[in-house]
Parts: sequence; C-alpha cells; structure tokens
Amino acid sequence: MEKFVINGGKPLSGSVRISGAKNAAVAILPAVLLADGPCVIENLPQILDVSTLLSSLSALGADVKIINKTTARIDPAHADSFIVTKEMAQGMRASSYFLGALLGRCKRARVAPPGGCDFGVRPIDQHIKGFEALGTRVTIENGMVDARAASLSGASIYLDVVSVGATMNIMLAAVKAKGLTVIENAAREPHIVDLANFLNSMGANIMGAGTGVIKIRGVEHLHGTQYSIIPDQIEAGTYMVAAAATGGDVTVENVTPKHLESIIAKLIETGAQIEEFDEAVRVRMSSRPKRCNVKTMPHPGFPTDMQPQIATLLSVAEGTSIVTEGVWDNRFRYVEQLTLMGASIQVDGKSAIITGVEKLKPAPVRAVDLRAGAAMIIAGLMAKGETVVEEISHIDRGYELLTEKLSALGADIKRVNDYGTPQAKLA
Ligand code: EPZ
Repeated sequence: MEKFVINGGKPLSGSVRISGAKNAAVAILPAVLLADGPCVIENLPQILDVSTLLSSLSALGADVKIINKTTARIDPAHADSFIVTKEMAQGMRASSYFLGALLGRCKRARVAPPGGCDFGVRPIDQHIKGFEALGTRVTIENGMVDARAASLSGASIYLDVVSVGATMNIMLAAVKAKGLTVIENAAREPHIVDLANFLNSMGANIMGAGTGVIKIRGVEHLHGTQYSIIPDQIEAGTYMVAAAATGGDVTVENVTPKHLESIIAKLIETGAQIEEFDEAVRVRMSSRPKRCNVKTMPHPGFPTDMQPQIATLLSVAEGTSIVTEGVWDNRFRYVEQLTLMGASIQVDGKSAIITGVEKLKPAPVRAVDLRAGAAMIIAGLMAKGETVVEEISHIDRGYELLTEKLSALGADIKRVNDYGTPQAKLA
C-alpha cells in the first residue's frame, strides 16, 4: 500500500500544466466502440481510470496502441464481445458508459454494475429509463446489467434528475438509433459538450450539448476520427484552491477559463486575486482566507467535485462558512479526516458548518474517495509539519503525476510504500 508523505507549510509557486479531463476521457474511450474505423485520442490523462478503460477495450477485442503517454489509437473493428465483467470494470463508475456504447454498437450489452466513489446511493435508473425509451429491454441477470434491443428508435426523454452519466449514456445509445432523440433536463457539464464534439467529429448529428435540451438525429455509421480531449476543470480547480490555501502564487496553464467561472467567483470571495488569460489562470493569496458560503449544483453551478477542496480552504477562513452539497446525498465523509487535522466542522444533513481555525495541524489521514483525497493533500500542504495520506489509490484514479506537479510548485511531497521507500512515479 502506498501513501503520500507531505511536509507542509510552504506556499506553492510557479506554473502547472493541466491534463486532459478525466470525466470526458472516461466517456470518450467507451464511445470509440461506435466507430467503424480507428480513432486517435489525444490529451488522455495518465491516470488509473484511463488505463483500466484501455484494458477493458482490449478485452472486448479492440486493437489498442499507445502512441505516446497521452495518445492512444484504438481500432474497434474486431471488438466482438459485449460483456464487461466486474474484473474489467474494477469498481469504476464510468464502466456504465459501456452500456450505452455497446447498445449503440451492437444493440446488446452485459456490464457489471458501476462502482465509483461512495457518496451513498448511486442509482442508474435514469440511464435505464433512457435506454428503455429507445426500445431496449434492461434486466439484472446474475448480478450483471443486461441490455438488449431488436432495434433502437429515437424518443423524447425527460430526465427526472440532472444526471451527467444518464445524459452521456443516452447520447451514446441514441447516436445511431433511427430518428430523433431529445434529452430534456440534460446535464450541461463541459465533458457533455466534449463527448458530443467527439461524436460529431465521427459524423454524428448532435445539437444543443451544453444546454438543457440535447437533440440527437441518428446516423447509420460513424467513422474513425482524431480528437483531443479538453483540459480537466476539476484538476485545474484543485491546483487553484491549493494555491490559495497555501498563500501561494500559481499560474494554472492549459485550461479553459470559462469552465472555471464558478470556482474563480468563489475564490475571489475568499480574497484570492485572480488573473485570467486565454488558456491560463493565475491565483494569488496574500492574506488569511475570508469566509464564504458555497452550494454545489450541476453545471454551471459550483461543481460538487470541488466541494471537499473548497471546504478545506474555508476550514482556515476568518469566520464561519456554510458549504451545502446539492448533488450527492452523502459527500462529507472526508470531514472526519479534516477534523483530525484540527478543522472545526459540523455536518448537518446536506450542509457543513465550518468555523474557521487559524491553522491546520499535521496528522495521519485517509483519502476516503478521489476528491476527498485531493482535499487531504491540500490540507497536508497547508499544515506545517508531516502529514501522511493513506489509501491513495483513490487519488491515482483521477490526478496525473500529482507528486511531480506539486513538487515543481515547491511542495515537499513524496509517494512512499509501506516500507517507507520513495516511489519515483506511478507506473
Ligand atoms: C459524474 O458522476 C462524475 N463521474 C462525478 O465525478 C460527479 O460528481 C457527478 O457526475 C456530478 O457532476 C464521472 O463523470 C465518471 P450524476 P455521475 O449521474 O454521472 C442522481 C469525480 O470526483 N442520479 O450526474 O455518476 C445521483 O444519485 C466523480 O470525478 C439518479 O438519481 O453523476 C446524484 O444525486 C465523482 N439516477 C445526481 O443524480 C440516475 O440514474 C447526479 O449524478 C443517475 C443519477
């Protein structure tokens, strides 16, 4: 078991380059199965979820070639299997995208139920509602989600909750269905737009991605393509908060500032100085953060995937802040860890009441999920002394070369194994 050892208390400074977006990549890779020819996908983040998906595509029969660290060429021509086992899915939430992609490809899919971070119940009823509206029969057999359709026909689908996963999965299943599919109350996240742009670059006809109503006119064939994934909004936001939390001065490069508007707005409320450039954002903080309230919401609201990180910054703010989770039932499991470091936080249902303390203290803590892990790293960078973060495999699922990027900003962070031996980098 590996862990991060952080010697905190130093302001971050310099520049950091943001990788491709995890939550776009994990939908685009399964979507390759819809193409008739090879696809070259660029700007893939070097993270565990991407390696897992590339292995799953190989196991389905696709020809996967790694061109360089961030580019893969995938030819799905001989992907003859429609079964994604539990071992292939490895507890990933994104394995559910194989349902939509395989339905679109061969009208048949059998996929292990999706896993992912534990935020309480994570249903897929809206995905299934969409598949059924398109003409699919969905059953659970031997613990697997089984979906089959004689043919797929366009339909009008209203989502009862704004769901990223259901919006993406319905797009995947509908893109080659007969006729017009309309998704109402669709999610509007940047990765929804990226998936639509990717599919359109293969010859799909998708309109309205990024708005609440997406229209998909089915086409018979999708051809291979070359496509570069957008920068990761959440990785960028994490470094921006880390810069502010350590009283640093960091330029976060290779970003789309428009995707960062809600994060920038909240950082400004805490007293950070922000400069926006075409593809970069500079974050400086020269005083103790000011309190502010944050409520997470679907895009363009403040992203739930930044909630633990901003709460960590607010844990040392002057005054009391209220952070309200508006997307997930239970996304405060990290609070217990943060209180081990001296934070004063009361969770009351979907809100966390944070009374700012002057400083966090180093402590041994756990990454209870991916973004909770990012929050522990930020807390470790803030606290003067040695913080050890355990269970870091969650963090490896979503952050590329974290120790390298943070070290280049002046942080003292090492990845060590159980015997205390430093590990250069994630294989
Ligand atoms: C995606 O999860 C992301 N994961 C999550 O990021 C992110 O937190 C979430 O969207 C919201 O932005 C990936 O993209 C792989 P949802 P997803 O369907 O698609 C309810 C990270 O840290 N719901 O938008 O699973 C659900 O319970 C990860 O990178 C239903 O009720 O989220 C939740 O309350 C963690 N029925 C809300 O909708 C459904 O069928 C939003 O979920 C589907 C969802």
